[in-house]
Amino acid sequence: MHLQKVCMILSFYWSLLNVYAELFVFNNELVNTSTHIYCGGKAIPLWDQYNRRQSCCMSVQSTKGGEPYSEDTYFCCDVIRLKHDGDGNEWHCCDKNKPYRKDKHICCGVHLKSLNNSDDKNECCDGKFYNFKSQVCCRNTLYQRKENQIDENYMECCGDARYDSRNLRCEHSSESNPKLLSIDLGICNRQEYNMTTHICCDEKVIQFPDLHESQSYSCCGGKLFKTTHMKCCSDSHLIPKSRECCGNDSYDPYHQRCCSGVPNKVSSLLEKSKCCGTKLIQKHDVCCNGIHGDLNFQCCNDKLINKKEICCEGRALEPSKICCVGRNGATKQIEKGKVSDNACCTYRKHHLQIYQPYDQMNQICFKGVFEKTVVPNKPKTVLSSTTKIPTSEKLKMDDVQANINFACSRKMTAIPLVMILVLYHLLVSA
Ligand SMILES: *[C@@H]1O[C@H](CO)[C@@H](O)[C@H](O)[C@H]1NC(C)=O
Ligand SMILES: *[C@@H]1O[C@H](CO)[C@@H](O)[C@H](O)[C@H]1NC(C)=O
Ligand SMILES: *[C@@H]1O[C@H](CO)[C@@H](O)[C@H](O)[C@H]1NC(C)=O
Ligand SMILES: *[C@@H]1O[C@H](CO)[C@@H](O)[C@H](O)[C@H]1NC(C)=O
Repeated sequence: MHLQKVCMILSFYWSLLNVYAELFVFNNELVNTSTHIYCGGKAIPLWDQYNRRQSCCMSVQSTKGGEPYSEDTYFCCDVIRLKHDGDGNEWHCCDKNKPYRKDKHICCGVHLKSLNNSDDKNECCDGKFYNFKSQVCCRNTLYQRKENQIDENYMECCGDARYDSRNLRCEHSSESNPKLLSIDLGICNRQEYNMTTHICCDEKVIQFPDLHESQSYSCCGGKLFKTTHMKCCSDSHLIPKSRECCGNDSYDPYHQRCCSGVPNKVSSLLEKSKCCGTKLIQKHDVCCNGIHGDLNFQCCNDKLINKKEICCEGRALEPSKICCVGRNGATKQIEKGKVSDNACCTYRKHHLQIYQPYDQMNQICFKGVFEKTVVPNKPKTVLSSTTKIPTSEKLKMDDVQANINFACSRKMTAIPLVMILVLYHLLVSA
């Protein structure tokens, strides 16, 4: 059989096993262990109806095989007990069956002791009480403070061991127990080295060329260098100390400027300059997303367009289109309806944002585009008898007058003239 086939069959059974590992059989029913616990011969939901986590209390004497309780309110200490007593004190459990208050007692392994106790053995080390004044606990091991040659002021723990911090160092490595090292030894790529004579650069041990000046050496990537003469850029390359870092290169700060990692010469012409991408350009020139343009250009959404063009929807406006500005200031290019269209009418209709091109000369925009044919700019002058109205428009004006007359005949003289005009306007466009 192919190895691939074997693998597929195995992974099928593995996933099946994973599903069933979550379940246990109870009363011939499968119960999901991530939603239920088995307690006292019953399947209990892990979270009760008040969304409180349930647990199972296995008492020492009881033969019932556990009793469920809510972790919010109770704790299990041989029997189920209230977490907080009437005075608001919180209770804990020591050694599965000794309830205690942390302000009155101290629990150490299987032992419970009153804090009232006058002896000094109130600290816990690996399940045993000890006196911290005369003893030190390093993880799980007790040491007498005065028992050995280590000055107790410099005594420190390193895992289970204690050491003199004047001569030794505790090296914590992730994979094993902490290790005691001579204070002048370091670890480089799991290898011990003498830090007085060597340095660790990028997991490589390098010897100082000059022991007396070891303080003036440093690492740059995997290389050793003298900080008095050189500079390290991005922990990768060395440059003379008088220069500055610039990408993979370096530059002279008095005569050059660094633009996106590329050194540029500052000429007298470019004294008022700025970076544009990797180039140095005149301060007043246009720079769009690192692209340089002279004064005939402008930026349009990180693109360079001619200054004469209109920036709309992040690009130059196409000649066959007009630019619409939405409510939020966003722009949109809309195809013209007719050649004379030169503006955009934006309005909302049934919660939709409408963009409609129109011709400002002959149309007006008021929650829609309407013909201007009759309605002149200033209604007052229109109706004055001295205004000359072109004959083609005269006919329509007569209609207006008819409407006004109609309105007035119904004793609506108070309605402002403008209102009637608008009404008429809507009528015409409908
Ligand atoms: C068990 O319940 C958990 C949480 O509801 C769910 O994600 C999981 O698929 C269930 N497992 C099975 C085997 O039904
Ligand atoms: C603690 O000490 C006080 C007096 O110092 C005494 O009255 C009390 O009973 C002691 N409590 C315990 C738990 O020993
Ligand atoms: C480290 O090197 C120095 C100088 O050579 C030496 O005095 C010291 O004993 C060395 N340390 C160890 C732990 O070998
Ligand atoms: C710097 O060098 C690295 C690798 O040599 C290269 O990937 C990177 O593009 C370089 N950067 C510049 C700004 O030249």
